[in-house]
Formats: sequence, structure tokens, C-alpha cells
Amino acid sequence: MDRYGIYRQLHLGGLFALFMALGAIALHVVNGGTRASNTGRKLIASLHGIALFIVLLGGFGMLARLKLAEGGLPTWIYLKLAIWGVMAAMGGLMYRSPKVARWMLVALPVLGGIASYIAVTKPG
Ligand code: HEM
Repeated sequence: MDRYGIYRQLHLGGLFALFMALGAIALHVVNGGTRASNTGRKLIASLHGIALFIVLLGGFGMLARLKLAEGGLPTWIYLKLAIWGVMAAMGGLMYRSPKVARWMLVALPVLGGIASYIAVTKPG
């Protein structure tokens, strides 16, 4: 596998872990759980943080291999970075509100789909 392929696998593997961690937190909160009552919170917070890092590593690695980052980042990457930012913030914000957590069970996969569409179509 070439370097691009390795970064792609990191990007995708990181995304699987990221969505798993966010889904786990969301269901815990929807079921009435809190940060304190989540006995697996350290494990899930570590997974969330490491996954976010690996997604970025893979994403910027691919950008470099594709020579797309020379002379500034393309606009579509800012859109993906914004979606990444929502996913980063939700690791903590969902604990504050079961309503938000419930919505995120629908919104996060939709955002994931939008991010994939952006990667494939590269608008701008
Ligand atoms: C959490 C939000 C994100 C999701 C759900 C996501 C999802 C995806 C998916 C599904 C692909 C297609 C993989 C393939 O078939 O080759 C992809 C490719 C890519 N992503 Fe992301 N991504 C996200 C965030 C990011 C970020 C933050 C960056 C930049 C640092 C980034 C940069 C890229 C690049 C450069 C590609 C390759 C495009 C190509 O091969 O033409 N992604 N992403």
C-alpha cells in the first residue's frame, strides 16, 4: 500500500472509532446517564480524543500526498474541518442535554454523509 493508502486507512479507521465513541456517549445520555454515572467515561473520552487525532492525521496526510495543500487549503477542507469541530465538541456537549444527544443520533450520521460527499465531490 502506498502512503496515500495508509493515510486513507487511518482516516477511515479513525472515523469508525469516532462515530462509535459518539454513539456510545449519546445512548448513555439518552438513557438518563450523566458524565459521573458513565463508568466507561475515561475509556470513551480517550477513544474519542485519539480518534479525532487520527482522523486529522489521515486527512492532512492525504492532502499532502494529493498535493492539495500547496498555497493554502482548498475551501472544502474548511467545511470538513467545521464538521470535525462539531464532532469534537459533541464529545462533551452531549452530556449536558439528553435532547441534544437524541438529536445527535440522527445529525451525526447525516454530517458524516455530508463530509464524505464533500471529500468525493470537492466543491471549491
Ligand atoms: C469528521 C469528519 C469527516 C468525515 C466523516 C470524513 C469522511 C471522509 C470519507 C468517507 C472520505 C472518502 C475516503 C475515500 O473513499 O477515499 C474522506 C476523504 C478525505 N478526507 Fe475526510 N472526513 C472528515 C474530516 C476530514 C478532515 C478534517 C480533513 C482534513 C484535514 C479531511 C480530509 C480528507 C481528504 C484529503 C480526503 C481524500 C480525498 C481524495 O482522496 O480525493 N477529512 N473523508
